[in-house]
Amino acid sequence: MSDEGGEGVRLQKVLAEAGVASRRQAEILMRQGRVEVDGRVVKEMGIRVDPDTAVIHVDGSRIVTDTETVHLALNKPEGMLSTMWDEQGRRCVGDVVLEKAGSTKGLFHVGRLDAATEGLLLLTNDGELAHRLTHPSYEVSKTYLAEIRAPIPKDLGRQLRAGVELDDGPVAVDSFRVVDRSGARVMVEVVLHEGRKHIVRRLLDAVDKPVQRLVRTAVGDVRLGDQRPGTLRKLNRDEVGSLYGAVGL
Ligand code: URA
Repeated sequence: MSDEGGEGVRLQKVLAEAGVASRRQAEILMRQGRVEVDGRVVKEMGIRVDPDTAVIHVDGSRIVTDTETVHLALNKPEGMLSTMWDEQGRRCVGDVVLEKAGSTKGLFHVGRLDAATEGLLLLTNDGELAHRLTHPSYEVSKTYLAEIRAPIPKDLGRQLRAGVELDDGPVAVDSFRVVDRSGARVMVEVVLHEGRKHIVRRLLDAVDKPVQRLVRTAVGDVRLGDQRPGTLRKLNRDEVGSLYGAVGL
C-alpha cells in the first residue's frame, strides 16, 4: 500500500474494477470505514495498492482483485471422475475444464465426489483456499440430496444428528430433513462438515438406508442452483467472498 503518487493502482479504481461499486460509491464505502487493506481500515482517498497482492475486505467480506485467481463451479455428472487427468482416458473433471476454460493449468478440484455422485464441485487455482476448504478444522458445510427407499423411521433425523459409529470413527450430521416423498422413493437433505471418503453413503448404509442417488447441492454458501450437469461457471463476487470468509482468509 502506498500514498498518492506512489506505486500501484488507486484503491477506488481497484474496487470498481473488481465490480464492488462505481468509483464514486467506492469512495463513499471508504469514507464510511468499510474498506480494509491488509488488515487496516483505509479512509484516505489517495491510497494505492497492488491488486495482485493486496488483501482487501469490504464489510468484512474478501474481495479478490488479482485477475489471475480463478474460482469455478462444476456440476459434475454421474460417472465422471473427480480428477484433473485420467491415465486410462476415462471422462474426468479435467476434460470439462480443458474444453470450457481452455487450460487446467494450476487448477485444483476442491475435494472429491465419488464417480457415482453428482453435483457441485469447486475448482480454484488458489491452493491455500482449496486446502482450507477441504480441511476438517475449518468445518465448511456441505449439503447433499440423497435418494433413499421408503419407509424411513420416524427418528432417523434424531439418530443422524446424534451420530453414527463408522469404521473410522463417528459421524453426525448438522441437519437432516425430508425434502420429498414419492411412492417408494424419499429425498432427504443432509448437511455435514465432513470430507471423509464416501461419508454420506457410509452414513446412510449404517442406518440401513443405502443411497440410490446422491447429489451435492452446496458447499458453504455456494449453491448448485439450476446449473446444468457438465457445465462450468465462474463464481460471483459474493460467492467468492463467502468462501474466503468461511475459512478465515
Ligand atoms: N459422500 C459420499 O458418500 N460421496 C461423495 O461423493 C461425497 C460425500
